[in-house]
Amino acid sequence: MSDHSLGGIEATLIFEKMGEHMGRLTLNRPQALNALNSQLLEELSAELERLESQAEKEDLRVLIVTGAGEKAFVAGADIKEMRGLSSDQAEALARRGQKIMGRLSELPLVVIAAVNGFALGGGCELALSCDFILASEKARFGLPEVSLGLIPGYGGTQRLSRSLGAHQARFLALSGEMFSALQMREMGLVSEVVAPEELEARSLHWAQIVASRGPEATRRVKRAVARGLDLSLAEGLEWEAQLFGQTFSTQDHHEGLAAFIEKRKPQFKGQ
Ligand code: CAA
Repeated sequence: MSDHSLGGIEATLIFEKMGEHMGRLTLNRPQALNALNSQLLEELSAELERLESQAEKEDLRVLIVTGAGEKAFVAGADIKEMRGLSSDQAEALARRGQKIMGRLSELPLVVIAAVNGFALGGGCELALSCDFILASEKARFGLPEVSLGLIPGYGGTQRLSRSLGAHQARFLALSGEMFSALQMREMGLVSEVVAPEELEARSLHWAQIVASRGPEATRRVKRAVARGLDLSLAEGLEWEAQLFGQTFSTQDHHEGLAAFIEKRKPQFKGQ
């Protein structure tokens, strides 16, 4: 890893290129279980802004998001920083966090959450903002805000109900309990559960698979699903038809169809 200090202050976020088309973002405050304090939110916001504009230029197609250290993905918003906030300040904090999570979910590249430990509150919300979730057997998910007398504020009540349905979302957010990776896979949030020592390799495995697909297509799959969640079925199908049509004006689709017919692997350029 490169030098992560910012003029003497340790960076709370690390971006690394992981070979062709792939990058990894590591939330790096292991001493506080990677809790999202204002520095980390600031760095995350800036990095997402950079990725929004650079991803296509750098031909970056997949981003793995994970937490530093053995214990946590992200243990939530920084509770110590929240103490003493007024209602207005707390509302502003929620809006800020929601904006950052929204930015993550709308990145023009596929984002895989590699959940290596606690993914609680804002950490669970961060994972929910990724395209799919891989988890180590040690991972623990939950929305414990009610045990602090709060509610989730970085999108948890909205994204979890869209992801799992209202009853499971209420089950998590009302109980405030932690659930294992296997329980979350059963509920449908987690796509794959692996041994802790295999999480990195499996994340790379899935990242490589996604990176080998047509980038113009994977970007449109994201947009189709994301916007479709807010539409009626008829409107969603209309949106899908438009995006399907658009893929026929990409170089990628010429390459994909030709490769199939010529019985070779496609070489997509993301154009
Ligand atoms: N904010 C700030 N610091 C945190 C933190 C958080 N969310 N989670 C953990 N830490 C800190 C601890 O205070 C501790 O620091 P000190 O050594 O300085 O005391 C350090 O990280 C290690 O944590 P623990 O000693 O508590 O570790 P543990 O293994 O005993 O417990 C845990 C782990 C069960 C995850 C426990 O740390 C915990 O319950 N954390 C809080 C989880 C939580 O409630 N998250 C939701 C926050 S609210 C939110 O996120 C709102 C929103 O939607 C935006």
